[in-house]
Amino acid sequence: MASPTKKMQYVRLGNSGLKVSKIILGCMTYGSPEWQKWVLSEEEGIKHIKFAYDQGIQSFDTANVYSNGLSEIILGKAIKQLKLPRDEIVVMTKLYEAERWNTGNRQKVCGSISYFQTPAEHPLLHRVEEIAKKKGVGMAQISVAWSLSKDGVSAPIVGTTSLKNLEEMIDAIHIKLTEEEVKYLEEPYCPVPIAGHN
Ligand SMILES: NC(=O)c1ccc[n+]([C@@H]2O[C@H](COP(=O)([O-])OP(=O)(O)OC[C@H]3O[C@@H](n4cnc5c(N)ncnc54)[C@H](OP(=O)(O)O)[C@@H]3O)[C@@H](O)[C@H]2O)c1
Repeated sequence: MASPTKKMQYVRLGNSGLKVSKIILGCMTYGSPEWQKWVLSEEEGIKHIKFAYDQGIQSFDTANVYSNGLSEIILGKAIKQLKLPRDEIVVMTKLYEAERWNTGNRQKVCGSISYFQTPAEHPLLHRVEEIAKKKGVGMAQISVAWSLSKDGVSAPIVGTTSLKNLEEMIDAIHIKLTEEEVKYLEEPYCPVPIAGHN
């Protein structure tokens, strides 16, 4: 599956027979900047998909509502243009009710605390920053490394509008957290009720 230049690793998705790359490319940010300014154009999106595939990512996540469906179309175009092997790649898509997504507000659709708070305001973020500094890596990389340290997580879906950030996320699969670091990160976490599934 991986060429010698690719540094990606592959895992089984849960108990299924499906193999996915340890990083899944989220395609929510590919569509039309005319829809929302945080969305990349088709050309940029295909550039990201090519970069991701060249780095060994063969699993892609999209939905019918990202840029009102353009994200799915762009991923389809990229598969054709780049001649991605259909028997190798994994494409995940989802069907949503369009009205729930009409907001197009990235902050509203993305529940990450990083959108709302800084490390000084949230002890958990402060600890992520502390461990990131200690290891000389980015905070986003620590979050990927933490996700991958959990038995219930096969492969996180990552989203970005920056190739540099994407490369960082891919590199994060090689960061190993010690048991103490995982415990330290989790200490200030308060579980929140599941939202959006009723
Ligand atoms: N949000 C949802 O409700 C939802 C639901 C289902 C599935 N998904 C899937 O999950 C994917 C990711 O979702 P998300 O909510 O995380 O989307 P997102 O809106 O792409 O948020 C990711 C954030 O992390 C930042 N980031 C990424 N890499 C970074 C790095 N190395 N260093 C610092 N910051 C970094 C991005 O900034 P930059 O753009 O500047 O890099 C962005 O602000 C989506 O593309 C979609 O396929 C999302």
